[in-house]
Parts: sequence; C-alpha cells; structure tokens
Amino acid sequence: MPLTIAQLLDTKKVLLCVGTGGVGKTTLSAALGMAAALRGRRVLVLTVDPARRLANALGLQAFDEHVQRIYLPSDPANGRAVTMDASMLDVKRTFDRVVGRYAKSEQSARRILEHPFYVQASTALAGSQEYMATERLYECATCGDWDLVVLDTPPAEHALDFLDAPRRLIDLFDSPAFRRVIAPTSRLKTGVFRSGSLVMRGLQRFTSVEMFSNLLEFFGQLAETFDGFVERARQVQALLTGPDAAFVLVSACDRMSTEQAVSLYAQLREQRMDPAAWLVNRVLAVDVALADDSVDLGQALGPQVAAMAAALGVDTSQARVLADSIAAVVRSLGHMAVADAAAVQRAQAAVGTALTVVAVPRRDEEPYNLKELSSIAQALAPAHAPAAAAGA
Ligand SMILES: Nc1ncnc2c1ncn2[C@@H]1O[C@H](COP(=O)(O)OP(=O)(O)O)[C@@H](O)[C@H]1O
Ligand SMILES: [Mg+2]
Repeated sequence: MPLTIAQLLDTKKVLLCVGTGGVGKTTLSAALGMAAALRGRRVLVLTVDPARRLANALGLQAFDEHVQRIYLPSDPANGRAVTMDASMLDVKRTFDRVVGRYAKSEQSARRILEHPFYVQASTALAGSQEYMATERLYECATCGDWDLVVLDTPPAEHALDFLDAPRRLIDLFDSPAFRRVIAPTSRLKTGVFRSGSLVMRGLQRFTSVEMFSNLLEFFGQLAETFDGFVERARQVQALLTGPDAAFVLVSACDRMSTEQAVSLYAQLREQRMDPAAWLVNRVLAVDVALADDSVDLGQALGPQVAAMAAALGVDTSQARVLADSIAAVVRSLGHMAVADAAAVQRAQAAVGTALTVVAVPRRDEEPYNLKELSSIAQALAPAHAPAAAAGA
C-alpha cells in the first residue's frame, strides 16, 4: 500500500515536486509545505521560480535566499499559531559556500571566488542550477532546523536533469581523464596544452587560446575542491535514493501532461528514487452529472431564470433564451469535469496501486495568497497534528 499524502507529510524529511513547466509544482510545493506545517512539522519550502504574486504571498524577494517565516492562517482546530519557512534558491551563493567548504584554505577559496571565470561558471555552467538545488536541499535537510524540506524543482528542460546533476558531476570530476588533464596545474603549460602545440592549434579554430588557457587555469585552481564535490554529490545522491526522500509527481489534466508524468515516473524508478504520489492538478470539482445530455437543463432552469429576470426588471420573454445560455455554460463545465475525471483515472490506471493519486481541485482564483493556498493544503491532507507529533 502506498503512503497517503498525510503519511508522507508526517514521515519524510524531503519531498521533491517534479513535473514539466506550468503544471503547478511551485504552487503545490507551497501547499504541501503548508499542509505539513498544519500537521505539526517544522517545514521549509525551498522554491526556485515563484511567480511574483506567489513570492509576495510567501514574503520572498527575488535572488534572496534568506529564510522567511510565514504565519499561516490559524488552525481552527486548536487555535495555535502555525508557521512555515520559505526560501529561494540562490545558485551563486550556494556555489560560494560549496567552494568555501572544500577549498584547502581561505586564501585559495578567495582565489577561486575572485577568478573572472568563477561568476560565469557558478551561474551559467550547464547543470549548475540543478546541482545547487540538490546541494541546498541537502544543506537544509541535514542542518537540523527543519523536520521536512519541500523542494520545488527548477524548470529544467528535462524535468529530471537536476537528479542527474550530482551523478554527472561525479562522473566528470572523478574520471581519470579529467583529472589527468586538469588537476596538476603545473601540467597545463606543458605537454599537449603548451602554446603552439598541435592540440592548442586545433583548439584555436574554436576558441581563442588565451581564453582556453584561462579556463584551464581556473579549473586547475578549482581542482582542489573536486574530492569534496564528489564526496558531497555522493551524499546528496544517497539522500535522494534513501528512505527519507520521496518524489511527488505533478501533472495537469491533458493527455500530454499525463504521458510526461508517466515517463517521469519510469525514470525515477530507474534511478532508484521513490515516486510516492501523483498530484493531478487543476481538476474541475463540479459534478460530472452536469454533462448528462438527456436532461433539458434549459427547461429545468426556465422558471428560476424567469423569476430572476423579473426581479432584475429584465424582459421576461427572454427568460428561455437566457436559461438555454446558462444551461450551455453549465453543460460545458460538466464536460470539462468529465474530461478531468478521466485524467485522474488515466493516471491511476498508469501506475496501478503503486502510487497515491490525488486530484487537486482547480481554484477559481489563482492561488496567490495564503488563504487560497491553505484551501489546497486542506484538500491534500487534513490540518491536525497527528498524536505522535503533537507531543513532540
Ligand atoms: N489548483 C490550481 N487552481 C488554479 N490555478 C492554479 C492551480 N495550481 C496552479 N495554478 C496556477 O497555474 C500557474 C502555474 O503554476 P506554477 O505553480 O507556477 O507551475 P510550475 O511551478 O509547475 O511552473 C500559476 O499561475 C498558478 O497560480
Ligand atoms: Mg515553478
């Protein structure tokens, strides 16, 4: 039996929301965090790209990784003040800390941080955002300040790139070829890389030699941090594949989104990560019976619409036309609800009983304030501290 959302919120140390762009990862990360906080856990939501209004609701400012404490709409069950923390990923600051941690001395850390290539490398290097998201997740999950960290994953072109990032880093930094070329700085100016050599003349066709040897010099300086990087990447990997972490798939209701989520599900299993739940987002929560074509809704609505028209002083001879128009809108909502319910069934059919599949209702208002978010949180898991956590 898969764990319910409430059980995941009560027992895991990290939850990672994954899915393609625009499906609601950021919104649902905040809502999951809120639900866990309302169940008594100390929660940090680590977000990547909140829409401005959501960021405002969470009190976050762009490119600012300081931890913001949010007071949630109070828990009606026992009236206690509930808080949740939120923070944004700052790729460069996280990278700075990693370098500071693994450099041999303060002085050599400064040399790396002040190198002209460093700013570029730390923010624009392929995969650095993905890698730093997991790095920061690890920092926060192990520092002891929180019981649960919810990570809103970065908008990678391929949604799971960030999981690969630590492994790719291990593969690169740990490969004998890379180390032979890069690590001993002294070797950079000799052998195949000395100026005028065949290799250098070949490279000249693609990039300036000066540029390239600067880059090599930079990597040479960075080399002393490689062991630290690799070791840390292994720890991150262990956290993500271990029992404390679970992945929450997020999808929209259209077919393509379902297919993408199924593929993410397969990729996660392949990488020995635990996809534990699937949130089908923006499911229209009206009764599918409204789609029933055998009922003449216009006729059924006729008398009420006539009464409404009379009350408003509108020509009552138009009542039936109005009733038919309203009926058409109601019916199309019914059809949308049927389609959304089918999406939830498709999701369930695709993963069988291996995963908890939950329909998250579509809100009329975009969930950009704490009240809207807490309605979604309530739909995910009831807000009460479980007996075990209540005494903690
Ligand atoms: N359950 C919902 N009901 C209504 N609007 C939603 C819901 N979930 C997300 N949205 C809206 O959908 C848009 C995309 O959500 P977002 O969380 O930013 O997606 P992602 O992080 O996956 O790119 C936002 O405008 C958000 O307010
Ligand atoms: Mg997002």
